[in-house]
Amino acid sequence: METFKSKITSKKNDISGSVSAKCPSNIALIKYGGKREIQIPMNPSLSFTLNESNTQTELKFKPKNTGEFSLKVFLDKEPKEDFVPKIITFFKRIEEFLPFLNQFEFEIHTHNTFPHSSGIASSASGMGALALCLTELETRLGGDLSSDEKLKKASFLARLGSGSACRSLYPGITVWGETDAVKGSSDCYAVPYPYEVHENFRNFQDTILLIDEGQKEVSSTVGHRLMENHPYAEKRFKSAEENLKRLIPILKEGSLEEFGTIVEHEALSLHAMMMTSNPYFILMKPNTLCVIEKLWEFRKSTALPLFFTLDAGANVHLLYPKKNKQKINDFVENDLKKYCFEAKMIKDFAF
Ligand code: DP6
Repeated sequence: METFKSKITSKKNDISGSVSAKCPSNIALIKYGGKREIQIPMNPSLSFTLNESNTQTELKFKPKNTGEFSLKVFLDKEPKEDFVPKIITFFKRIEEFLPFLNQFEFEIHTHNTFPHSSGIASSASGMGALALCLTELETRLGGDLSSDEKLKKASFLARLGSGSACRSLYPGITVWGETDAVKGSSDCYAVPYPYEVHENFRNFQDTILLIDEGQKEVSSTVGHRLMENHPYAEKRFKSAEENLKRLIPILKEGSLEEFGTIVEHEALSLHAMMMTSNPYFILMKPNTLCVIEKLWEFRKSTALPLFFTLDAGANVHLLYPKKNKQKINDFVENDLKKYCFEAKMIKDFAF
């Protein structure tokens, strides 16, 4: 495995300043579910990076004596002490790759362009933005990585903060997890999707319907752990990889119907695994099912290519080509909005 150890030669650790970065969120079409130490996925995943939903982070640093990590986190100027433990865990995991981390006092100032509990995971964009800040800081301290190497390292680091975050470092379609189906793919970082993609998938729309405002019932850590002694785990890991392999010619040839079949199968597989784990969980809410049923009826009666995917929660991502935007928007306004919590939804697009 290639090494991501820091190759800083000069000693510049006595400087103060700040670095900033912005990173989008992403929506997985082939789902990551299940991991082994440390943050190695059990199956390859593939996602669309979103265009408008992102995290903007400023990392302020000033020198201190070495010792414990020192950091404060602010979300929209408000101190967020509950974010600190996750970032300390992240720092511990990445210290061997950025050995200067305990030589600074940090303030992390962060802002999401999407509202809180909007159905978009801020951990992917948040960890991505922080990883970008850290690789930028490494450069300021004398690191000499090229811009491509920096992005790869940021993806590698982001993975150690939150697995799905490593896919957010590149625009368009990205793949994380080693598979012989995708050249250059790795368990340690994501790579930009290297194959041809049909025009039908350009500017693919993602409307996220907020079904339930409640806190996630199952944290991602718990969710991944449920796969450890799961009776169907091995089959699921294989099925995800097979779905990824099937998706490659579909992305090239542009068959929307086949695309939708795989994407919906993936979403329902993720939920099926949660329903059959021990303990078991149902993360969909009644309105999640109402939306899915309405969507299927609409698709049947109009023959328009509208599909859904789900994250580990009740919210529904509606996926559709840009050229059908108006008709789908009308359908959402007239028939789906009533299932959303406080009529909340977010409109974004990928690729
Ligand atoms: C359901 O990346 O949040 O969104 O690695 O524990 O931080 P950790 O998990 P996380 O898991 C996301 C899982 C998912 C599917 C996906 O994005 O692929």
